[in-house]
Amino acid sequence: MTYNEIRKVFLNYFEQHGHKIVPSASLIPNDATLLFTVAGMVPWKGILQGTEPAFAPRVADVQKCIRAGGKHNDLEDVGFDGRHHTFFEMMGNWSFGDYFKEQAIVMSWDLLTNVIGLDPNRIVVTTHESDDEATEIWKRVAGKDAIRLGKDNWWSAGDTGPCGPCTEMHYDFGPDVPGGLPGSPDEDGGRFVEIWNNVFMQYDRDANGNLTPLPKQNVDTGAGLERWAAVLQNKFDNYDTDLFVNLKRAVSDLTGVVETMENKPSFKIITDHLRAVGFAIADGVIPSNADRGYVIRRILRRAMRHGQILGYRGELLSKLYPALVAEMGDAYPELKTQEKHVVEIIRNEENSFADMLQNGMKLLENELPKINNKILPGDIAFKLFDTYGFPLDLTQMILRDRNIDVDVNGFEQCMAQQKERSRADTRGTKLLWESQTDLSSTDDVEKYETKTEHPATVLSILRGEEFVKSADAGDNVEIALDHTPFYGTQGGQVGDMGVFKIGDDIVANISETNRVGNIVIHKGVLTAPISVGDKVMPEINQNIRQQTARAHTATHLLQAALRHVLNDDVEQRGSKVAPDSVRFDFSFGRALTPEEKQAVEDLVNKWIDSDLPVLHEEMDIESAKKRGAMALFGEKYGDVVRVITAGDVSCELCGGTHVYHTGEILHARINKEKSISSGIRRITMSVGDLAQ
Ligand code: ALA
Repeated sequence: MTYNEIRKVFLNYFEQHGHKIVPSASLIPNDATLLFTVAGMVPWKGILQGTEPAFAPRVADVQKCIRAGGKHNDLEDVGFDGRHHTFFEMMGNWSFGDYFKEQAIVMSWDLLTNVIGLDPNRIVVTTHESDDEATEIWKRVAGKDAIRLGKDNWWSAGDTGPCGPCTEMHYDFGPDVPGGLPGSPDEDGGRFVEIWNNVFMQYDRDANGNLTPLPKQNVDTGAGLERWAAVLQNKFDNYDTDLFVNLKRAVSDLTGVVETMENKPSFKIITDHLRAVGFAIADGVIPSNADRGYVIRRILRRAMRHGQILGYRGELLSKLYPALVAEMGDAYPELKTQEKHVVEIIRNEENSFADMLQNGMKLLENELPKINNKILPGDIAFKLFDTYGFPLDLTQMILRDRNIDVDVNGFEQCMAQQKERSRADTRGTKLLWESQTDLSSTDDVEKYETKTEHPATVLSILRGEEFVKSADAGDNVEIALDHTPFYGTQGGQVGDMGVFKIGDDIVANISETNRVGNIVIHKGVLTAPISVGDKVMPEINQNIRQQTARAHTATHLLQAALRHVLNDDVEQRGSKVAPDSVRFDFSFGRALTPEEKQAVEDLVNKWIDSDLPVLHEEMDIESAKKRGAMALFGEKYGDVVRVITAGDVSCELCGGTHVYHTGEILHARINKEKSISSGIRRITMSVGDLAQ
C-alpha cells in the first residue's frame, strides 16, 4: 500500500464509523506554548480541555507535524535510524466525549487486523500501569496480554494541558531484527515499532503538575503514516518506502550521486529536511534568527551540509521542492499554491549560506588538527556561528562523525560577550555611516511602490569597519545606493529583505535594511563581486513585504479595537512590526480579562472580514489633524505626512507600508498579553497565514 492509499484507507474507515473527516491544520499552532504542531491533537486542545465546543463528536484526519524543537524534538536522531523524522504525518481519530476506551480499542484492532491485514500475532500492546480497564479490554477483544508500563504510557502535548493514560500498539518485525519488547532495556533496537497510540484524555494538568479531571472523557489517537508504510511495504527502514524512494531519486538526479550504505544518512537527512522546510515555509514560516524561524533555518543549513557531504555545491532544497510537490501536492494542495513563494524563500536562504558553508568548513578543517581531548573550543564554535552562520547543532553534527564534542559552555560565554559587543557595534556602524558626510541621501520614495523600474548605482560599500571600493563574493557588507525600493527599518516596522541583481544574476542577498539619517543601508552577503559605481537592480522579497504590510495594517486595527473595547485613553507606546509577528505596547493600567482579549481579537477580525478599503495619502499636517489622524505620542512629524485610513475605523499618521484592503490580512490572532512595566501592556499578535 502506498502513502496515498494508506491515507485513504484510514480516513475511509473512520468516515464509515461516523467520523467527520477534516483537512490537516497548519504546522503553525494556534497555541503559544508550542513552536510547531507536534501531534494530531494540537488543533483540538481547546475542545479536549472543554474550553471550546466540539464541532463534531467524532473526527479523523491526517495531520502534518514537526518535532524539531522544545519537548518533542527528533532532529538529532534523523538520519541515524530508519524511524525518526522532523516532519511526519500523523493519522488520528478523536472522540470528544463520545466513545471511550472500549470502542477506540475495538476500532484500532479491527482496522489493523481486518482492514489492512496485519498478522495479529505480530502485534504487541502496552497499557498504563494504572489502567486495568484498557488491559481488560485488550484481553477480551484481542486475546492480548498488554505489557504494563509507567511514563511511556502516559501522554501529553506540553507541560500543561490535556493528558492521560495511553495504550500503544507495536509491530514485530521478527526475530531477525535486533531489539527487545517495549519497556525492555533494548526496546530501541528496532524489532518492535510503535504504530499506533490511543490516548485516553481524562485530565488537565496545570503548571504545578496537578491533575484535574476533564469535563468529558475523550479519545486522542495518533498513528505515524511513515511507519505504517514501512510495515505495509515490508521495509524495515521508513526511508525505503515509496514516497522516500521517489524523493531520494530526486536527490540522486540532482546531485549525480548514487545512494550507498555509507551515504544513506545524508539521503535520509536531505529528504526529511526537504519535507520539514518545504511544508513549514508553505505554512508561512520564514527562516530567521528566532523561534520557529530559527528551527527552520537550522534544518535547512543541516540539509545543505549533507549536500556538501555528497560533494554537491549548488542550490539543494529549492531544486528538490518540485519533487516534494509531485509526491505530496495532491494530499496537501498548499504545497502547490505556495510553490513560487517557498522556492524563492529557500533559494534566498541557500544562496546566503552557500559560501559561508564552504568557508566555515575550511576554518574548521584548519582548526581540527590543533585541538586536544577531542573537544572543539567554544570560541571556534562561536566563530563558526557568528561569522559563518553555523548553528551550534550544525557544528556538533559535523563533528559527531569524528567523535569530537564542542565546549558548549565556552560557546555560551562567547555568545554572552558578543551580545554586549553587538550593542556597541550597532552604534559602531551607525557612527561610521554618519561620518560619511558627503554621501547623498537615498531616494526611497519607491518603497511605497515596492518596485523600481531602473537600476540603482552603488554609492558606498562598508565591509567590517572599512569603506571599500569593491568587495567580493562571500563578503558581509552594508551598501548604500542612490535610490531604492527597500524599506529601511523605522517607525517600528522591520526593513525589507531581498536581492540585488545584475542582469538575471543575483549579486547580493540582502537580509536586513536599516536607516541612518536619510541613508538607507542594505545589509547582506555578496554572491558576486561588486564595486562602487556598479548598477544593480534592487528587488525586494514581495512575499515578506506583503506579510509585513498585513502586520502593519493589523497593528492599526488592533490599536483601534483596543480603544473601542477598553477606552480611548489607550495610547501606543511602541511597536515592532515584523513579517512573522506584531508587538504592540500601549498604556493601560491592568491585565485584560480573557473576555476583553477575545473581544479585541474578534473586532480586529470583523474589520478584516469586512474588507475595508485602506487609503494611503499624503497631506499637510494641518489637514491630517483636521481629519482626526492619530499621531504617535512624543513623535516629531514633518510638514507633509502620510495618513493611513482603514475604512471608518482607523486613521493614523504613519510612514510604514500597508495593505490596500483589510481582507488581505486574512486573519489576526492575539498570542499573548502581558505587562512590560508599570502601566504599560504588551500584546503579541500573528497575522495572515500564520494566524489561520
Ligand atoms: N497525541 C498522541 C501522540 O501523539 C496520540 O502520540
